[in-house]
Amino acid sequence: MANSHNWITPYEKRINSALGSLLPDDDSILSKAIRYSVLNGGKRLRPLLVYLSSELGNSSPEAQDSVSCAVELIHCYSLIHDDLPSMDDDSLRRGMPTCHKEFGEAVAILAGDAIQPMAYYSLTNSKEIEDKHKVSLVSLLAEACGQNGMVEGQILDISENKSLSIEDLDYMHSKKTGSLIKTCLEMGGLISYLPEQEINLLSEYGEKVGLAFQIRDDIIDLQSPTEISGKTQGADILQKKITYPNLIGMERAKKRTIELCEEAQETVKKLSGDSTKLIKLSDFISNRNY
Ligand code: IPE
Ligand code: IPE
Ligand code: MG
Ligand code: MG
Ligand code: MG
Repeated sequence: MANSHNWITPYEKRINSALGSLLPDDDSILSKAIRYSVLNGGKRLRPLLVYLSSELGNSSPEAQDSVSCAVELIHCYSLIHDDLPSMDDDSLRRGMPTCHKEFGEAVAILAGDAIQPMAYYSLTNSKEIEDKHKVSLVSLLAEACGQNGMVEGQILDISENKSLSIEDLDYMHSKKTGSLIKTCLEMGGLISYLPEQEINLLSEYGEKVGLAFQIRDDIIDLQSPTEISGKTQGADILQKKITYPNLIGMERAKKRTIELCEEAQETVKKLSGDSTKLIKLSDFISNRNY
C-alpha cells in the first residue's frame, strides 16, 4: 500500500506467505491460473481486516492466517469471475492481463470455481480454530458471499435497471463489496473470543468502510490512471455502469466516502481495545488511488 502506510507491509508479507503455502504448486494449467490470480499483488485489504480485528482479542497466528487466506481466496475468485467477458469484460487486473486473457475463459471460470471451496478448506483445516467456531465461520462466510450477499450485489450490478436511486446504489454496493468486508471483521472478532458487543462495533465499522471502499472504487475508475490502479481507467463508463460519481457527482461521492469513514472511526473508538490501526486503515480507504 502507499508509503504513508508502511505499517501494513508486515501483514501483506504474512498473508502472501500463507497463501503461497496453501495454494497448489504443480505444473497443471489450473494450478498456474490459480497462483497467477492469487499471488499477483493486490492490497490484501480483507486479510488485513481479519488480522486487525483478531489482534483485539486472543487467537493464534495460525488461526488468523487460516481465516485471512479464506477471505482473500473468496475475494480473488470474485475478481476472476467479475472480469469475465460475460460480466465486466475487463482485460487488466492488478496491472496484469486478467485470468481469462492469460489462460482462456474456461480455465478462468474453473480457477474461480476451485479457489472458492479452497477458502472453506482453509477454515475447516485449521489446527487452532475450535470446531464450534469453524461452523460459525463457514456459515458467516457462506452468507456473506452467496445469494443474499456478494452474488446478490453482482446480479444487481449486471441488471438492466438503470434508474437506480442512491438508496438502491447503497444497497448494491453494500452487498457486492460490503458484505465480505464486514464479515472479515466479524470473523476476526469471533476467533479471538471478543464479546458480542465488540463484534457488533466491528461489524458496524465494516459496514461503513465496506460501502466507502466501493464508492472509492467507482471514483478510482474515473480518476486514477491505469498505471496506478492496475485496472483500465474508465471501464465503468464503457460498461455503462451506474456508479456514485455519475449518479451524484464526483465531489459529493468523495464527501460521502469521507463521511462514512469518519463514522466508521467514531464507531471503533468505542472498542475497549486499541483501534489506532483500524482508524488509520479507514483513512487509507477514503484516500486511496488504487
Ligand atoms: C476490487 O477490490 C473489487 C472491489 C470489490 C471493489 P480491491 O480494490 O480490494 O482489489 P485488490 O485485491 O486490491 O486487487
Ligand atoms: C467488483 O466490483 C465486486 C466484486 C468482485 C464482488 P467492481 O466490478 O467495481 O470491481 P473492479 O472495479 O472490477 O475491481
Ligand atoms: Mg463488477
Ligand atoms: Mg469489475
Ligand atoms: Mg469498480
